[in-house]
Amino acid sequence: MHCSVCPSNREPAQAEVVVIPIDPEGKACTPQIPLRESDAALVLGVAARGDLGRANGALLWVPLAVHPAAPTEAPAAPPALAAVTISPKTSVSAESVKSSTPSSDSAGAATPESGRGRRGKRETISAAQVRRVLLVRMTFKAGTRKPSEKHFNDALRAAARVLTEASPAQVVSLLHEALPEGRDTAWGCRALILALREQLYRFDTYKSKKAEGRGTEGKGDESDTTEPRRSIGELRLAVDPQARVGIEAAITQAIALADGLDLTRDLGNTPPNVCNPAFLADQAIELGKLHRLKVEVLERKQMQALGMGALLAVAQGSAQAPRLIAITYRGGKARQAPIVLVGKGITFDTGGISIKPSASMDEMKFDMSGAGAVFGTLKAVAAMQLPVNLVGLVPAAENMPDGNATRPGDIVTTMSGQTVEILNTDAEGRLILCDALTFAERYKPDTVIDIATLTGACVVALGAVHSGLFSPDDDLAAELEKAGKAASDTCWRMPVDDAYQELLKSNFADMANIGGKGAGAVSAACFLARFTKSFRWAHLDIAGTAWREGAAKGASARPVPLLVEFIRSRVAPKATAA
Ligand code: BES
Ligand code: MN
Ligand code: ZN
Repeated sequence: MHCSVCPSNREPAQAEVVVIPIDPEGKACTPQIPLRESDAALVLGVAARGDLGRANGALLWVPLAVHPAAPTEAPAAPPALAAVTISPKTSVSAESVKSSTPSSDSAGAATPESGRGRRGKRETISAAQVRRVLLVRMTFKAGTRKPSEKHFNDALRAAARVLTEASPAQVVSLLHEALPEGRDTAWGCRALILALREQLYRFDTYKSKKAEGRGTEGKGDESDTTEPRRSIGELRLAVDPQARVGIEAAITQAIALADGLDLTRDLGNTPPNVCNPAFLADQAIELGKLHRLKVEVLERKQMQALGMGALLAVAQGSAQAPRLIAITYRGGKARQAPIVLVGKGITFDTGGISIKPSASMDEMKFDMSGAGAVFGTLKAVAAMQLPVNLVGLVPAAENMPDGNATRPGDIVTTMSGQTVEILNTDAEGRLILCDALTFAERYKPDTVIDIATLTGACVVALGAVHSGLFSPDDDLAAELEKAGKAASDTCWRMPVDDAYQELLKSNFADMANIGGKGAGAVSAACFLARFTKSFRWAHLDIAGTAWREGAAKGASARPVPLLVEFIRSRVAPKATAA
């Protein structure tokens, strides 16, 4: 049988993916890819049809053994497989993971669906069933046999792209075995599932032709530019039987997180003529029904009664009435003080009377990404049933120029009683957030974190790599930095000290809503700091990280992984990766 090797040249050298067909008798072809000494060759067996039921699990190692650069140590015994079915857009419970857990005996004629997961039993792979093997090149850190986290994630992403394009019914992966330093198998499995789910994500609600067919295997009409539908029927991960229970829990959590990320992406990608404040409120109510969350929605009248003059000022130029959405998840003890997340929900930011230039203005539909992150985090945390009390607050408004819009120079009174001179109507995020932060006081929170696409200056400072982290509290800042690293969703600490507060001086009110020329991200954070004196607080500026520009334009769902890891680490500190 012929072996054709098809290197994918879309990826940079650190992470190459090669698909190698194997003949039906199970004889592997020698891969014709130039593997270097420093490369790890890892294998994903792809069974295009049939089930993975019988024979020898060691087959997975065959393609490694045929290549000199491959690791020589095959496992002494075929590894047990923990199986998990993943498909996009399904919310997942522990049961659905368990029910797809295979438990054939070691003679192994069972099909994956045939049993409930009895621990320690082995699932093996039939040579005849493996149709293709995917080798993934991964660069190791100099002098080690381990990749950096970036290289690991790059390799996963590259593999996930090829794999989802092939849309196989079943996949066996060992990719989570070449782990970065200090990371365990559960961490690797989680990363793999997230990489696959990211590649499976599609937003075609507003395309008249939906994705169809079976990936690149289908006969595509070349004039048809509709993206092929991607799918993976079943993913199997070979893991140590002893670690199985912990890994299954990690997988359940990864799927819950992926469901939350999908929600955040969907909300961000939804066009601004649909995703307005009322739409966000409806979405919150839906989320509440699905996960039994308490949802309250405040309207203009109630905001007036509370004296939310800043939030109302931003909304007054829009035909869309504002909302203040409060979502409560109670997983912890009744008396336990909650974590409150406050997400900027500007459903479109024109700048108002201080109007923005038109280039890329469409991207200001993503100005509700903080709100989207709050929704996604609540969804994930509720699905994980974490023992924590969590509140999501979303001030939602649209920033428009209008005869009734706020003018530069207007002075408003915030719910806190402090007055603000609005010198620039495009600095609206801090105006809706300040009233929501004051409102957060009524929850007597343990910690408040606001998440906002707040400043272009933060994009200048940090680009799309790290989110900006601002907090006067060193411990909280360290916790968030650590969670970001563990979740591969990093943030970088910036200052919020009082030395910058004088930038916000106003001759006519308690403060102005903008600072001077320099330190734009910091002066915005300093503005918020004036409304957060009564609790532990951190601010995440996600202006550079919440969405991708250009050909891959779309919501990234950051910093949901960071936030979920932060909350998870609070309830299970020992389980957190370093
Ligand atoms: N939503 C923008 C911030 C933004 C800009 C995010 C570009 C992502 C990309 C925010 O409301 C804003 O307009 N901020 C102003 C503040 C300035 C007027 C002090 C900005 O950054 O220019
Ligand atoms: Mn703005
Ligand atoms: Zn904005």
